[in-house]
Amino acid sequence: MDSNDDKSMDMQLISKLFFSKQPINIITDYLRDHIQELSSDETQEQLLNATIGHKLMNKYPLSLKYRQLFAKKVIQLLESEDFTICDTFYILNGHLLSQSMDTIKNNYNFNYLNYVLTSGQIVSLQESNNLVIDGTTGLTTWSAAKHLAYFIECNPHIVKNKNIVELGSGVGMTGICVLKTCYPHSYTFSDHHPLVLQVLQNNIDINNCGQNWRISNIDWFDPYSVDNYLNANDPDIIIASDVTYDPQVIGYLCDVLNKLLKSCHKRRK
Ligand SMILES: C[S@@+](CC[C@H](N)C(=O)[O-])C[C@H]1O[C@@H](n2cnc3c(N)ncnc32)[C@H](O)[C@@H]1O
Repeated sequence: MDSNDDKSMDMQLISKLFFSKQPINIITDYLRDHIQELSSDETQEQLLNATIGHKLMNKYPLSLKYRQLFAKKVIQLLESEDFTICDTFYILNGHLLSQSMDTIKNNYNFNYLNYVLTSGQIVSLQESNNLVIDGTTGLTTWSAAKHLAYFIECNPHIVKNKNIVELGSGVGMTGICVLKTCYPHSYTFSDHHPLVLQVLQNNIDINNCGQNWRISNIDWFDPYSVDNYLNANDPDIIIASDVTYDPQVIGYLCDVLNKLLKSCHKRRK
């Protein structure tokens, strides 16, 4: 599509491209050509009304994946320009994500599992029997998480009063067990997959985990996400269970560990 800086953004054209499910990069290229207009809440609202917020999407919605990807790409574009994103954008995006959560829960046999800890306390987790859903392995508890939880529960002195960060937390088994039994100073759960993060949040909420935890969106492929975490936190201990077997991912994971370890060393000095 030709760039045309003289003309203002054509919302009708955007609707036309969006409704006929054209590749999203065609639309984002067009938006990029008119990027300054998108700095205002008003234009962002108009863009939403022309696309994911259009009334046609209630009656004859495009595929959920397409609408989610559109929202994600536009949010990324606005963030890359440091624009403030209007509230309606976040509300609609949250709505799209929770719809996909419902679809997944309905289609993939989501249930609660109850794990009895060595202390006798119970951890109830919403999870699936499926090992891979929506491209992630994070929506079920893996054996390694149970073993790590057991190990820490038997050796609480390792984590007591410490600031812990967990990578690839999945549905939260290890961290919830640590919070319920071992008195860490703080615990940061992390993951990168939006649905995993939602289920994780729900699981923490239902297990009375106290106040000294947070969830951080740490993506090993995104160095800024680690920096963001480190801007506000200084971990003492880094833990992870069964996070990858993919040789192509290991290098990125090592970079994350390197940064976190440097911060741990700095704290100890
Ligand atoms: C096999 S699951 C293990 C989950 C949990 N630790 C357990 O043992 O039950 C791997 C986890 O790593 C997360 N993961 C994979 N790639 C990631 C990445 N690039 N950044 C952050 N987390 C990632 C997945 O979302 C998933 O939750």
